[in-house]
Amino acid sequence: MQNHLTKIVGLLNDHEFHDGTTIGKQLHITRAAVWKTIKKLEQYGIRLEAGKKRGYRLKEPLILLDEKKIKSLACEKTIQMDILEKINSTNDYLKYFMDKNKTLEICLAEMQTKGKGRFNRQWHSPFGQNIYFSLLYPFKKDVSELSGLSLVLGLAVCQAIQAVCSTQSLHVKWPNDVVIGNQKISGNLIEIQAESHSVCQAILGIGINVNMKDANKKEINQSWSSLQNLTGHYYDRNILCASLINYLLKYLKRFEQKGLTDFIVEWKSKDYLLNQSVQLICNKKKFEGIGAGINEQGHLLLKLPDGKIHAFSSGDTSLLTCSTSKCEVNK
Ligand code: BTN
Repeated sequence: MQNHLTKIVGLLNDHEFHDGTTIGKQLHITRAAVWKTIKKLEQYGIRLEAGKKRGYRLKEPLILLDEKKIKSLACEKTIQMDILEKINSTNDYLKYFMDKNKTLEICLAEMQTKGKGRFNRQWHSPFGQNIYFSLLYPFKKDVSELSGLSLVLGLAVCQAIQAVCSTQSLHVKWPNDVVIGNQKISGNLIEIQAESHSVCQAILGIGINVNMKDANKKEINQSWSSLQNLTGHYYDRNILCASLINYLLKYLKRFEQKGLTDFIVEWKSKDYLLNQSVQLICNKKKFEGIGAGINEQGHLLLKLPDGKIHAFSSGDTSLLTCSTSKCEVNK
C-alpha cells in the first residue's frame, strides 16, 4: 500500500490540525505530494476538515490496515500477506496465485471496486471502513468433501468478532451470513479450483462490516449493520483481522481433520433459523417451513407444511416474521 497515504493518515489521527508544510517536513516529502494524498483521501470519501493556515484534520478516526500490526497479533507470523489500497476484488486478486502457490496467501484491501457477493451481487466496499479479506487455502481434500465449508467460515467469523467486541447476540444464518438481530454483519464467498482427486485450492473471501456508518439502498439492498453502528465504538480493523486469521486457521484445520460433523453442535447454538418460520428461495422457487438445523453435509433442514423435513443444498434464506426475540434485539 502507498507509503505516503499510511504515514499521512497516521499523523492526522491525533484529532489535531496539521499543515501541509509541516507534514511534508516530518515525512520528508514535498507539499505537492502531501496535497495529492489529501485529495486522494477526499476522493475515497474520507471526511477531512481543512482550516485556513491550520491545515487538515480527520473528522472521524481512521486507522489503516498495517501488515506489521496484524502479524504481531496473529499466531501465524510467516503467512504471505498482500495489503492493497484498492482492488477490484480480493478474491479475484488471489486467482493469479492459484496455480503458482501451494501455500497460504492472504489478500486484504482498503477498498474494492467490484466486491463480489453471492448470486452475482455487489459487495459494498468503501475505503478504510470494513474488512475485505481473502485467503488462498490449499486443501488436502477432494472438492466433494468441502460441503459445509461456508458454514465453518461463518462460525470462525463469529468467534473472531466475539473475541474483539463484547457483543453477545451473534448468530449464523444459513448458509454464509453472520447476523446480529436481523441485520447482516458479514458474508463469505468461496471459489474453488479442483486439482486432482484428493487436492484442491479454495479462495475464501470474507467481508465484515466494521466501521461503516451509512450506505444507501442502491449500495446495500438488504438489512445490514456494522460493529460500530451496533456498539458505538470505533474498531481498529488490524486487531479484528488478526483475530479472524487466528480463528479461521484453527477452524480450517479442524474441518480438514474432522469434517463438518465436529461443528454441528456449535452451529446449533448459533443457528439464527432454528425453530423459526423461514422462507427459502432456491432456483427461483419459494419454500416456507420451520428451521430444523443442518444435516451432516451442511444442507439446510426445513420442516415443510406437509410435516416432512426436507434438506436444501443452496438458496437464500430469511425469517418470515420478525416478531421473534431474535429480531427484536435491534429494534
Ligand atoms: C455474500 O454474503 O454475498 C458474500 C460476500 C463476500 C464479500 C467478500 S469481501 C472480500 C471478498 N472479495 C470479494 O469480492 N468478495 C468477498
